[in-house]
Amino acid sequence: MMRAIIVTPGVEDSVRLDEVGEPDPAEGSVLVETLMIGVCGTDREIIAGEHGQPPPGTDDLVLGHESLGSVLEAPRDSGLTAGDLVVGIVRRPDPEPCVNCAVGEWDMCRNGRYTEHGIKGLDGYARERFRLDPGYAVRVDPALGDLAVLLEPASIVAKAWEHIERIGKRAHWEPRRVLVTGAGPIGLLAALMGRQRGLEVAALDRVVDGPKPRLVTDLDATYHVGDIEAACADADVVIEATGAAELVFEVMRSSARNGIVCLTGVTSPGRRIEVAAGLIAHQIVLENDVVFGSVNANRRHYEQAAHVLAAADPDWLGRLITRRVPLERWRDAYESTPTGIKTVIALAASAESRSWQPPR
Ligand code: BGC
Repeated sequence: MMRAIIVTPGVEDSVRLDEVGEPDPAEGSVLVETLMIGVCGTDREIIAGEHGQPPPGTDDLVLGHESLGSVLEAPRDSGLTAGDLVVGIVRRPDPEPCVNCAVGEWDMCRNGRYTEHGIKGLDGYARERFRLDPGYAVRVDPALGDLAVLLEPASIVAKAWEHIERIGKRAHWEPRRVLVTGAGPIGLLAALMGRQRGLEVAALDRVVDGPKPRLVTDLDATYHVGDIEAACADADVVIEATGAAELVFEVMRSSARNGIVCLTGVTSPGRRIEVAAGLIAHQIVLENDVVFGSVNANRRHYEQAAHVLAAADPDWLGRLITRRVPLERWRDAYESTPTGIKTVIALAASAESRSWQPPR
């Protein structure tokens, strides 16, 4: 038996720490010891009973989709050996599989029957051990150390950037400025990737205290609090990472000519606001604007994200992790604060005591 963070999807505040059985060998040939898991807004929505689906035949779901683990056992031909640091891919293809899942693009699944660890139909990684098929284990450079827990959120952003660039190439593409709305983990990683591409970056957020402003300015980017219209005016790309309905429509309305607006935040479906729909549609057409949504990531994006993290300043990445809690205090990890960025839960005792500095 081992400890796991479990929730009954659809039942508000059913989250608890409980004992579960060892991972079923049918889950994969690679046995992994969980070092830590990252917490994100999706976990909080599942805890609030608004999202999430248990595996078939049960009511409960093990939480956790942002993982970092150490291989305990792996078959000889898997390319993995004991002690390797690995991150588990979140999504699995639908059973059919659809044309996209069939070619490994499960992030673009057509029929919606995909599954996701810790979110939809598959137990997550917030348990002391899990199993993976080698094809869904991404080995990370040990030099990255604990910072590799940022690989999953970075993969989401790597996908968004890949698609932005593909859309940009519909015509002559020479972007200069990018605006990121929301300086949480996704927004900050989007800003980092914008700077890595040599673009001017502005990040907009509500908060003025805490580490966010410095993290942005340390990228040689501009931290904006306030006027969205001005911030959008000459942005070739807007990456919207708050999911706040007002902001989503505000950036759609204010985007520049030929602007690409990428929505990455999951907006609460219950939110109703009044918008100038005619004006927005009018502008989208007359300005060749593109507004698109981006979710999840396939293996290629995890690999792109590994390069992004390897090329970043490790001290800067370490400052994204604003809270680390041991498994015993797991409940604290799910409280969100406006100035906090990424909270991680350390499952293995070794992960609790390790320093944030990656080994050099
Ligand atoms: C995860 C994605 C997932 C999405 C929708 C996000 O929090 O990072 O991998 O596809 O939620 O369930």
